[in-house]
Amino acid sequence: MDARTRGTEQEGISFGEIEVCANFLSTTDLTQDELEHLLDRAGRFKSGIDQRKPLAGRSVALVFFNPSLRTRASMQVGIYELGGNAVVLEPGASTWTLEHREAAVMDEDKTEHVKEFVRVLGRYCACIGVRTFARLENWAEERTDPVLTAFARYTEVPVINMESAMHHPLQSLADMMTIREKVGSGRKRVLMTWAWHPKPLPMAVPNSFALASAQMGHEVVIAHPSRYELDEELMEVIKGKAREAGGSVEVTNDVDAAFDGAEVVYAKSWGGRDFYGKAQADVEHRQAFRHDWIVDARKMRRTNDAVFMHCLPVRRNVIVTDEVLDSAASVVIDEAENRLHAQKAVLAKLLGEKQ
Ligand code: CP
Repeated sequence: MDARTRGTEQEGISFGEIEVCANFLSTTDLTQDELEHLLDRAGRFKSGIDQRKPLAGRSVALVFFNPSLRTRASMQVGIYELGGNAVVLEPGASTWTLEHREAAVMDEDKTEHVKEFVRVLGRYCACIGVRTFARLENWAEERTDPVLTAFARYTEVPVINMESAMHHPLQSLADMMTIREKVGSGRKRVLMTWAWHPKPLPMAVPNSFALASAQMGHEVVIAHPSRYELDEELMEVIKGKAREAGGSVEVTNDVDAAFDGAEVVYAKSWGGRDFYGKAQADVEHRQAFRHDWIVDARKMRRTNDAVFMHCLPVRRNVIVTDEVLDSAASVVIDEAENRLHAQKAVLAKLLGEKQ
């Protein structure tokens, strides 16, 4: 059964121009109701009410091109708790180096093509998770998520995005769960603030957080210095989702005023699109923002008793001060725990029907 046939029988999530089904690549095509449904299901896993084991007797491949603590551990534990078996693979380390480009002449350092890799894994595993970060070298190419897209193109089983160049939907689901749990249901004033970091980082987390917050109908404030704008096309999607859900999106360069009235403060650093392939230029440009763009107690006092969130790992006294990170307002550990429950909901949704 190929992916298209299977897609007519199961719920699917499309991605770009490619007709792929039964994948979880971003939250883009989920309705607010579908997101709420996933969060409800995650809540039932967290409370222990749902103890079903829809993965009994089945394996899930977890493919990591990049390091991970939370995603790797929570996926492995979640798969185990759902009755399944996780197969962790690291291309270029514990498995062969992988080529993803169509029609590549593989006469350099790449040993195996994604085309064989994913179809072979599909014969062993019910689902494939993949983590493949942006290399921050070529914006035009990387914004199309080429490696993730190759996995989705060739796979015969569902693919789950465990963080790509553009999206980290498992993180944003856990983030939405955490907001609902800590601040309550309904529209909230949610600030996502850029923070200074010594080097440029990928945009997947801010993209997915802003997108999911808009989809949930929140009043979203995105604060960043000049030249750290998110992808223009994605921003149009985010604004459209906010309109549909009855929320709003505001973008500001004013790091202090951005905190006014916030009920959620979400900190993240990311690299500028114009600086892809020019890391040193980004490092020099951002130097001016080092002292102002940090989450500290003074800024948190401007909020409406906001909770502080970060996807982790976080650099202490760079992104956020110890005073804030160690305060009662900080919910980062619960947020990380919610990765487990949210991912179980996704796995159960994608694989639960097939026994
Ligand atoms: N937040 C997150 O994805 O953490 P890891 O990179 O440790 O998986």
